[in-house]
Amino acid sequence: MHSDNSTRVALVTGASRGIGAEVAQQLARPDTHVVVNYRKNAAGAAAVADAIRGAGGQASTMAADIADATATSAMVDQVADRFGRLDALVLNASGGLEPGIDPNHAMWINHDAQQRLARLTLPLMPAGASLVFATSHQAHFYPHKAVPKGYATVAASKRAGETALYAMRSQFDRRGIHFTVVSGDMIDGKAVLTLLDGGACTAAPRNSASRRGLAEFATAIAHAATAPSPAGIVYVGGPAHLARRSA
Ligand SMILES: NC(=O)c1ccc[n+]([C@@H]2O[C@H](COP(=O)([O-])OP(=O)(O)OC[C@H]3O[C@@H](n4cnc5c(N)ncnc54)[C@H](OP(=O)(O)O)[C@@H]3O)[C@@H](O)[C@H]2O)c1
Repeated sequence: MHSDNSTRVALVTGASRGIGAEVAQQLARPDTHVVVNYRKNAAGAAAVADAIRGAGGQASTMAADIADATATSAMVDQVADRFGRLDALVLNASGGLEPGIDPNHAMWINHDAQQRLARLTLPLMPAGASLVFATSHQAHFYPHKAVPKGYATVAASKRAGETALYAMRSQFDRRGIHFTVVSGDMIDGKAVLTLLDGGACTAAPRNSASRRGLAEFATAIAHAATAPSPAGIVYVGGPAHLARRSA
């Protein structure tokens, strides 16, 4: 079944929890079908899809480990077969801090997988479609700014992913695809900071300021995925970090 031309299709990677889940829900609209990608957390992804439908939108879930080339191709084929188009790709899923992970995983997921997804989905994107890459200030400014202890490998790999996407910009421009990088400060209580602290992953931010930070970052990503002329780069939060940039 192909969607009719009035239905927009958005794919959000890593949308079973955290920022991706919030972005997916913010994209809920009657005229948009949101594809909620996840790796393992089927229940989380299903809850996000239910919430989108409950808000009057359309949604489905698709499992794929984006670090796995075969699984990623299968997911993109599924999008092609089912919808025949992709109006927004939100590259949100990231990794590399998980305890005991292969040291090469950060580059596989934060660089190779992002480049592969952009390349595979490009033929599905009509003019006016959007591609959004979510990153952290600590990765975006790497190696020009200090990073938290334990984050350098992830920062380097996410920066490499961002650079690889910039290198595809002429292809995006030729097809009339908007490319936006949304860079945010680290959110207290989110998994990334908890892992850097040596603790276990948390599913949600610890306090209301963190929840606001997550919502603000997700809003900027969702806006970049839907605005007719999004800015090429958007910074969210971390005024001290950004101020030091020009110092
Ligand atoms: N957290 C922060 O403070 C912060 C700050 C600035 C920028 N960012 C950026 O925002 C994005 C999201 O961060 P987050 O903290 O919300 O992440 P998170 O809470 O750790 O969520 C990770 C999501 O990615 C999915 N995922 C992980 N590995 C995957 C894989 N190989 N294939 C497919 N999905 C995978 C997970 O799916 P499962 O649940 O199924 O495993 C989950 O849905 C990242 O790009 C990050 O760099 C985060």
